[in-house]
Amino acid sequence: MSYMMGIDVGTTGTRAVIVRPDGQVVGAATGDHEPMRMPKPGWAEQDPANWWEATIQAVRAALEDAGLKGGDIAAVGLSGQMHGVVLLDQTNSVLRPSLIWCDQRSQEQCDWITSKVGADRLIQLVSNPALTGFSAPKMLWVRDHEPRIFERAAHFLLPKDFVRYRLTGEFATDVSDASGTLLFDVTNRRWSREMLSALGLDAKILPRAYESPEITGEISVETALVTGLKAGTPVVGGGGDQASSAVGNGIVLPGLTSATLGTSGVIFAYTDAPKLDPHGRIHTFCHAVPGKWHVMGVTQGAGLSLRWFRDNFAAAEADYARRVGVDAYELILAEAEKIPAGSDGLLFLPYLMGERTPVLDAQARGMWFGLTAAHTRGHLIRAILEGVAFSLRDSLEIFRELEIPVSEIRASGGGSRGLMWRQIQADIYGKELVRLRTSEGSALGAALLAGVGAKIYASVEESARQAIQTEDHLAPRPAEKKIYDRYYEVYRNLYGATRPLIHQLAGLASEAPAGG
Ligand code: XUL
Repeated sequence: MSYMMGIDVGTTGTRAVIVRPDGQVVGAATGDHEPMRMPKPGWAEQDPANWWEATIQAVRAALEDAGLKGGDIAAVGLSGQMHGVVLLDQTNSVLRPSLIWCDQRSQEQCDWITSKVGADRLIQLVSNPALTGFSAPKMLWVRDHEPRIFERAAHFLLPKDFVRYRLTGEFATDVSDASGTLLFDVTNRRWSREMLSALGLDAKILPRAYESPEITGEISVETALVTGLKAGTPVVGGGGDQASSAVGNGIVLPGLTSATLGTSGVIFAYTDAPKLDPHGRIHTFCHAVPGKWHVMGVTQGAGLSLRWFRDNFAAAEADYARRVGVDAYELILAEAEKIPAGSDGLLFLPYLMGERTPVLDAQARGMWFGLTAAHTRGHLIRAILEGVAFSLRDSLEIFRELEIPVSEIRASGGGSRGLMWRQIQADIYGKELVRLRTSEGSALGAALLAGVGAKIYASVEESARQAIQTEDHLAPRPAEKKIYDRYYEVYRNLYGATRPLIHQLAGLASEAPAGG
């Protein structure tokens, strides 16, 4: 029997799964990451070394969980949080902590890129506008603010590609993850020389970009010793976490869409050709399916909002959960279960790390809106769940406007494991939500891509046919849908109505010293 391994370098942890060709997960484990550091509002950093330690831990534990040896693994695929900037010097040492996907400090660099290249030309060259979420503005922030560090940069890598470098010694990426750098010609699936020269960046620092199922290197002898994998095992390109998750959810045909609730929240749709939003509100990237593309709308703070609530307002539950070995989220969510749809007139804007879709605003800020003395903590929690789903509905509305077909929405990510948040989503989207047999998403997708690279499957589409099965369909409830449609009208106007005040406030907060 051949087995495939997928490794997903996420935000809160790195997960390794071992999968059989029929899609059955036979072993899985997670290595936790240290919490991201936020030295100022909107800044977010992690240490690449920590991802590598978590990878070693997860891979070893997954092999043990499956009762397998490294030699049983036919190929390894990588998936990872996108857009983060890892810089290595000439000796391949990490130069500074990584500015990760949700870091918002580079608005000035985005404005500079837009004026230098021109807004329309940017879309022609890289299919997307300059956003603080993407890698190039983060790189330029380092160049502008830490020039001594930047001048020593010999290699730029995305998070999962740093782990690839440690696994194989190769500097490589894949087209889906490269698409989120703002340096990649998404239409022609290659680095954009014109963009690089406009921004004054040297092509030499970029990794080679492969299609996602292509083999990029092999597990090295040193790595085999620490991970338990076998030296010489092929490692395929893999994908950014969203494209990998789409493969793991079978989003490989027109009309198929997924709603992923991870740290971020994403509505993702497959497209046969690059499909552009003239307003740049959704991203147009290469898919992990060779020669195909996708669009996606991103909510920065989906699971992140609930985690923030847990970490700051539910210490007693977290402590109790740790002691008796239950999940703190279950205790928190039980409180929200008692609250009716609409949270008795309370709305939540999940803009805790600025926002991408639809407002494209690094200075956007979160809020509960409509508080009264009658509201309880359960209301605050339910409003978070509803606010995140409203935010993802914004993306679906844009898909509708652009005539991107949505025939089926598949629920994915840790946030969709519980029935309540899935039902809230079905009610708010007004669409059936389909659940799959395995909810491993990104790590499963990376494993399937490895399977294509190892020729276990003839194509990515074939891997989906063999390994992915739907489990149940959750219909929207008509009464709740009606309530949510009316609340959504208020929700969608809330940001616009408060924008000037939010910006004024964000400006005041940014004057505070670092860490203050
Ligand atoms: C996608 C995005 C997030 C991160 C973290 O554009 O920024 O999904 O990859 O999950």
